[in-house]
Amino acid sequence: MSKSSKVKPTPEVIHKPSKEFSAKARIPSMAAYKKLYKESIDKPEKFWAKEAKELTWQKPWSKVLDWKAPFAKWFDGGKLNVCENCVDRHAFGARKNKAAIIWEGEPGDRRVITYGQLHKEVCRFANVLEKNGIKKNDRVLIYMPMVPEAAIAMLACARIGAVHNVVFGGFASEAILDRLEDSGSVAVITADGGWRRGKVIPLKPAVDEALSRYTAAKIKRVIVLKRTGNDIKMVSGRDSWWHEEVTEVSNKHVAKPFDSEHPLFVLYTSGSTGKPKGILHTSGGYLTGTYATCKYIFDMRDEDVYWCTADVGWITGHSYIVYGPLANGATQVMYEGAPNEPDFGRFWKMIEEYGVTIFYTAPTAIRAFIKAGDHFPAGYDLSSLRLLGSVGEPINPEAWNWYHKHIGGGRCPIVDTWWQTETGAILISPIPGATPCKPGTATHPFFGIDAAILDDAGKECKPNEDGRLVIRKPWPSMTRTIYGDKARFKKTYFSDYPGLYTAGDGARRDKDGNFWIIGRLDDVLNVSGHRLGTAEIESALVAHPAVAEAAVVGRPDDMKGQAVAAFVTLKSGFQESEHLIIELRNHVGKLIGAIAKPDDIYCTPGLPKTRSGKIMRRLLKELVTKGEISGNITTLEDYNVITALQEKVKKK
Ligand code: WTA
Repeated sequence: MSKSSKVKPTPEVIHKPSKEFSAKARIPSMAAYKKLYKESIDKPEKFWAKEAKELTWQKPWSKVLDWKAPFAKWFDGGKLNVCENCVDRHAFGARKNKAAIIWEGEPGDRRVITYGQLHKEVCRFANVLEKNGIKKNDRVLIYMPMVPEAAIAMLACARIGAVHNVVFGGFASEAILDRLEDSGSVAVITADGGWRRGKVIPLKPAVDEALSRYTAAKIKRVIVLKRTGNDIKMVSGRDSWWHEEVTEVSNKHVAKPFDSEHPLFVLYTSGSTGKPKGILHTSGGYLTGTYATCKYIFDMRDEDVYWCTADVGWITGHSYIVYGPLANGATQVMYEGAPNEPDFGRFWKMIEEYGVTIFYTAPTAIRAFIKAGDHFPAGYDLSSLRLLGSVGEPINPEAWNWYHKHIGGGRCPIVDTWWQTETGAILISPIPGATPCKPGTATHPFFGIDAAILDDAGKECKPNEDGRLVIRKPWPSMTRTIYGDKARFKKTYFSDYPGLYTAGDGARRDKDGNFWIIGRLDDVLNVSGHRLGTAEIESALVAHPAVAEAAVVGRPDDMKGQAVAAFVTLKSGFQESEHLIIELRNHVGKLIGAIAKPDDIYCTPGLPKTRSGKIMRRLLKELVTKGEISGNITTLEDYNVITALQEKVKKK
């Protein structure tokens, strides 16, 4: 690192927030941002304690921060119930009849759930969990489509102190099994399917398949929501229907207090080595982080209609569909299906229909909309929008400009929010109403976040010099550990620069102090905003009987950001064929999920290795990016391998 960036210098197009927006905003100017930022960095504990006090605590904390790097305790001694903060707090006052969730299913069915109703639904489901013997600290795996019950199940777990472990509905049975085993889950909440692109995606068979091989703990119950009427098998004595369970219980449930550091959830995410890591988040700090970032970055207000298009299976869905917006008492839209069902006008139609004011989506979706054509958004009235957000990967300036013009009508600020599963909440983002934005930069750190870019020696980089993004001070919503593996937690995040959090992203700052995120420095891919480990895809490939060895790298892709390129050597007796390539792609899809299917698979007689036998992924990456290899290859064991591969890649 630390060499000068080859990326073009900062484009100097600066979009200042409009006077109308700033006049009403919580932070109305850059001077106000700078003042509060300085205060929050000088005294982070004071800043965070002020935010945390806006939540409901059943017992006040005795100490704001206990930091024994890399282990943090926030609001120690304090007790709260996260679910009470997201639901009860609003269900008995002025927001009782306010819509909490305006849900639309893909086929067009709709439901509006008020805070008063949400409270009853969540209480019922908390009672169902308890009736089935699920207790505080038990892990509950949730594998659901995007329906309100997914949020209700998460909130009910939080209410009783059970730890949810949501698995994205696009993952396959093998991924469910890994997550069940690593977390030792004792219950599963799922559905008979969900709608996606006009078809029913069956979820239950993948759960059945995973459970047939699950041994780490005894399953107390599998609760199945009837969503599609799809024909599924119910295992007697183990499985029960959601709608039958809830009729047997009361809609009242007392939210008991839990320690601020009580585990709230585990969410698995890809790392550079081995199996996905269970990122653990706890209660008081996580809620404070998601609450405060929603308030300042989305400028959330009672009259807003907010819509985040993520899935609850990802961290964005946890923090910015469930916990953050509900802690703020917001009204939000939730959508079950695909953005192009029946066509690419679906999102814009929904924005017009529900009068959405704040819209949060991913650059990969924006690029798909650009490709589909401007006539789709032009066909709808998007004048209700006042703020736009982006998350998941760097937003390229072309996508930023299109989003700004065609969706935001040139008037809406765009918050490009940088964060990670591990950070729990947004750490770098414009503050709308304050921050002048240049397309492509996530701009400045949020309050209390001491972000910096360091070179290999640990020195802070100069303007426009590439380095590693680190966070120097602890923050409340930071992950507390990798579930069951403190040593891996310390090694992964706190060993590059002892005591400092290393994000794994490369970045640089321009002369105005804006952070430009370049991308992952490790073997983690970002495909359409989804994190995938090359190691996971490689081990799925070698699990196929035809494959002897595999190496996976990312290559740039206009639509997805990155595409998956795989190089495989075949076992003797197997021949390269079109049929085999299709089979290998489907095999990865079956083991991990469709999002992990390699875009390109190259069969090769050998992989480039160092003399000590390590696969040189750097060369493969260069090959798929530039079509040839120019760098230093003196450590290569067999040069012929590269010549053969170059031919193959060129032919594609
Ligand atoms: C990338 C998603 C640039 C980054 C919330 C990070 C981004 C990884 C941005 C985390 C952004 C996320 N600009 N890159 N605004 N947001 N990333 O855990 O590489 O799924 O490390 O969390 O996504 O992905 P994760």
